[in-house]
Amino acid sequence: MSIATLREVLKTGHDRGAIGAFSTYDLFTAQGIMNGAEKAGLPVIAMIGAPVLNKQGNEEIGRLMVRLADKAKVPVVVFLDHAKDFESCMKAIRLGFSAVMIDGSHLSFDENVQLTKKVVTVAKAVGVSVEGEIGALAGVEDGEGVVSSKMTNPDDVPRFADLTGVDALAISIGNAHGLYKGKPNLNFGILEKSAKLTQTPLVLHGGTGIEKKQFARAIDLGIKKVNIGTEVKCAFMDTFTKLHSENKEAYDLVGIPQAIKQAVAEVAEKDLKFFAEQWREYLK
Ligand code: 13P
Repeated sequence: MSIATLREVLKTGHDRGAIGAFSTYDLFTAQGIMNGAEKAGLPVIAMIGAPVLNKQGNEEIGRLMVRLADKAKVPVVVFLDHAKDFESCMKAIRLGFSAVMIDGSHLSFDENVQLTKKVVTVAKAVGVSVEGEIGALAGVEDGEGVVSSKMTNPDDVPRFADLTGVDALAISIGNAHGLYKGKPNLNFGILEKSAKLTQTPLVLHGGTGIEKKQFARAIDLGIKKVNIGTEVKCAFMDTFTKLHSENKEAYDLVGIPQAIKQAVAEVAEKDLKFFAEQWREYLK
């Protein structure tokens, strides 16, 4: 099975609920995400945030993701998450990524369209999918924080999709990056209206902490891709701190990374199965 584009997996996933996208930081999270997808027997999106890929030396993580995806037994989209500039997208494309997100949500509508369109033109020419965003999410992602959020105006959704030609579109309905304080308050009216106005698959960021019933409603209304970042980080850090504190003298840098890989695989397998099928049980 080779590396797949976002467009391809979103198409095959059309009658199968949504597809999970998981944040990657290193070899162990990359292998964990892909191992989990193989166990679930489902396609997966392995994403890396632009702030992570742009750290010195981290292009090697991108290369590694492409190599692992090429060898995976299920379709894997290698995805650049939340790039704010054209150059980061070009870097990912040169590394062999199959999808990029250009996030112009901090710009005016017209500037966002202009930047997104520029990325789409180049990406499409080389067979790479593009995700855009309208409306902005609050919270901290990959070390970069946004204080205020701006809900998506549903009327902007078809206009933005048509003007840019994106393959997927992230919307803001009260979802946030990082851990929620209390129960997330999602505006399903915005989602329902947006989904009715476009054929472009819609994306829900800030997946960690959203409740099963809320996911079910969101997928039923038209969400096709769900982003999970913090849950991956928690699996990594909690496994590391637990095992290290249990046997500090061992400084077990052989066994602990294997356990981290397993913990991340369990997250990916569980979430992928839920987004593909099990969400239906939570619709009532
Ligand atoms: P969480 O960290 O809240 O799961 O969000 C991840 C995300 O949306 C990455 O784009």
